[in-house]
Amino acid sequence: MTRREFLVGTAAACATMRARATTNAGGVSTLPHVDMSKALGEHAAAKGILFGTALGVGPLKDPAYADLVARQCTIGVSENALKWAALRPAPDRYDFGAGDYCFQFLSSHGMKYRGHTLVWELALPTWFHNTVNAGNAKAMMLDHISVVVRHYAGKMHSWDVVNEAIELNDGRPDGLKNTPWLQMVGPEYIEMAFHAAHEADPKAMLTYNENWLEPESWAETKRQATVALLTNLKKKGVPVHGLGIQSHLFAETVVGGPHFARFLDEVADLGLAILITEMDIRDQHLGGSVETRDQAVAQKYYDYLSFMLQRKAVKVVLTWGLSNRYTWISEHNPRPDGSPVRPLPYDADLKPTPAWSAVAAAFDQASER
Ligand code: XIL
Repeated sequence: MTRREFLVGTAAACATMRARATTNAGGVSTLPHVDMSKALGEHAAAKGILFGTALGVGPLKDPAYADLVARQCTIGVSENALKWAALRPAPDRYDFGAGDYCFQFLSSHGMKYRGHTLVWELALPTWFHNTVNAGNAKAMMLDHISVVVRHYAGKMHSWDVVNEAIELNDGRPDGLKNTPWLQMVGPEYIEMAFHAAHEADPKAMLTYNENWLEPESWAETKRQATVALLTNLKKKGVPVHGLGIQSHLFAETVVGGPHFARFLDEVADLGLAILITEMDIRDQHLGGSVETRDQAVAQKYYDYLSFMLQRKAVKVVLTWGLSNRYTWISEHNPRPDGSPVRPLPYDADLKPTPAWSAVAAAFDQASER
């Protein structure tokens, strides 16, 4: 199922979701008490887990928001600054301004930096399609990885080397998405990218990052293709160290069933770390009051993170933004009624939402790793 098909299906199921949200509403009040004087990063650190968020230069120039990130997080990931479109204003030029700004901010607060992303078919610069062809694509990709990873060598916690490379609907037996990289370099582009990144920074954790792995009911074929890809890479000795599970969920997404559980065990058995890399909970289809919606979102944070953190392979939790003041969901998944979306642990006034307590409670009940 493509994201579009899922969204259409989701819209059609609106009434059911409203009912479920109402059911969920009471659940949150039963969550364990959490110490709100401690930051989320501290709740996580007590169990050997890193907690953080996606960062952009614009939001970081908002002093109150920057202060909140510095207090709450132990790791940050660049939301857009290290994508090709931002880094490559022209084929022969690199602009590290935004990426370096994020790094300076994080390192000055003792936080780790995570790079996103080296190879993806989206967020490519406009010149890409007129300039990159089958003759030069491999060299362009490898040069990009070498220059960018070397720029931050020794400073990065981890790199998303390849992002979202699987798409079953493209009909290939290996499940790979039919991207420009696949077309121009061949299916080996994935292993080449990991080797190049490892050569450029042998210390960084190298991750494969993927979306739509979480829903129990319809993501099984994608999960199987992901395990097959990772198994193959490991067999070939490719330096892949972790799987990033994006975790952009809807409040009504059913997660945490036996198929997803088995998948996580299979990934961990390959010796890979598991990172929750881009979590947010879309409240786009929820009805009811702000309080009711917030409670449904909080319940989903709690249910998902409690389930995921049962596995010691899960070492990092990142939300895609920290406050509803700055979230891509406002633009990409707005509410049909026009009211502001509320997918994150802080509201637009930088006050904690019920999701904050849900995240803290999930860390508190996790075992140490
Ligand atoms: C999103 C950013 O948050 C937006 O600002 C941008 O307009 C589009 O990309 N999966 C990913 C991220 O791997 O890079 C995406 O980030 C969200 C989905």
